[in-house]
Amino acid sequence: MQTVLVVDDEKGTRDLMVRALAMRWRTLGAADAEAALRMIEEDPGICVVLSDIRMPGASGMELLREVKRIRPQMVVILITAYGSVADAVAAVKDGADDFLVKPIDLDALEKRVEKAIAQILLEKEVHELRSQVNEKYGMENITGESPAMKNVFALVRQAAPTEATILIEGPSGTGKELVAHAIHNLSARAKGPFVAVECAALTGSLLESELFGHEKGAFTDAFQRRIGRFEAANHGTIFLDEISEISPATQVKLLRVLETRTFERVGGTETIKTDIRIVAACNKPLAKLVAEGKFREDLYYRLNVVDIRLPALRERTGDIPLIAMRYLREFSKANGSKVQGIAPEAMKILESYSWPGNVRELRNTIEKMVVLARNPELGVDDVPEQIRYHLKELAVDTGGGTLEALEKRRIAQAIAQAGGNRTKAAERLGISRRTLYRKIEEYAQEGVEL
Ligand SMILES: Nc1ncnc2c1ncn2[C@@H]1O[C@H](COP(=O)(O)OP(=O)(O)OP(=O)(O)O)[C@@H](O)[C@H]1O
Ligand SMILES: [Mg+2]
Repeated sequence: MQTVLVVDDEKGTRDLMVRALAMRWRTLGAADAEAALRMIEEDPGICVVLSDIRMPGASGMELLREVKRIRPQMVVILITAYGSVADAVAAVKDGADDFLVKPIDLDALEKRVEKAIAQILLEKEVHELRSQVNEKYGMENITGESPAMKNVFALVRQAAPTEATILIEGPSGTGKELVAHAIHNLSARAKGPFVAVECAALTGSLLESELFGHEKGAFTDAFQRRIGRFEAANHGTIFLDEISEISPATQVKLLRVLETRTFERVGGTETIKTDIRIVAACNKPLAKLVAEGKFREDLYYRLNVVDIRLPALRERTGDIPLIAMRYLREFSKANGSKVQGIAPEAMKILESYSWPGNVRELRNTIEKMVVLARNPELGVDDVPEQIRYHLKELAVDTGGGTLEALEKRRIAQAIAQAGGNRTKAAERLGISRRTLYRKIEEYAQEGVEL
């Protein structure tokens, strides 16, 4: 609980202040600096200290220095004698957050404390929000144990703390944005801003003005000077999403930013330097666009210092149960639902589906299943029709043992696609090599050759 500590050797003044403040906040009193320090050490609720400067023993100034040393967040307001401007100046210079002049005006006192507490609450809120954001976007939130994802984690861990420009490639819904946030949060810039720019949503000059900002009068609607995202991201990370969508003219300007970290606002002449880490993402293979002449090769090489590729979900089917269970728990909790698990047959269907929308589609499917569920365990009937239908199209009945036939087919297919290389086949399937060997053995015992 937010507690105010009043320190004054004069009992009359002290009691007056304590009584006035106690109407709104928990308030304690101390007769000298030593007693005050003892109380601060013992009571973590104390967040504002109001202290007289002139006291026998340690002065208010000494108390201020000691408090700021042991509790840098503490708000300290010093009380100076009427007319002693020098004291007030010295107090603020030494780090006091505010000062009051004697004789104390109780209204002013209340207002100052109110302001101090509002500031403390705001800082606390910002701090909590920031740690929530970090929680949301740390690597622990990227679920996966497949070899492909382990590789992604290793790359992120290695590249994040450097200043290297990173290109994240992968089909839609594979977690590119999640990875971009993780890179920022694991970098030295974590305390700085993370600024995302959706390049596809803005075209041509709009994108340029968004990225570089513009001067007043740069174009008809430019009534004000506006800073762009590159400036807003100073000391932080800029995330250029869907980088393949930028026009050739903007590509040239971007190349310069990558090379020199400088640019001019639209309609401006001043060269602006910015300290940014660049992370870009693309849901098409950028190299292919370069080959087709749609993306500048020099820009591609500047962006592609470290290339992180997120595989489609069907190339890591081993991760499907993990991701499904994670979202099942999350959505179940968020909806106050009783759903606790997924029946093995239903899980097999999810593992067999091709997930063109990747993790995003899986997440949305689980949410839907949880919301519509009638039993604590999700069964085959809870799997959305369109996913079951898709499996039927593969000429596989989802009832009973035929799912095993599907599994066999998928394994046989993966081995064939990997040219008989079982390690590669296991990787494709997102299962360990050991699991693959075990399955092959099981089938062999049933007399099935793969
Ligand atoms: N490995 C993962 N574990 C858990 N959730 C994931 C994972 N990958 C993606 N998601 C979730 O899937 C959704 C889509 O992820 P994200 O927005 O990062 O994809 P994207 O690759 O940027 O897609 P797009 O190309 O469409 O922008 C998000 O809700 C994200 O939290
Ligand atoms: Mg995205």
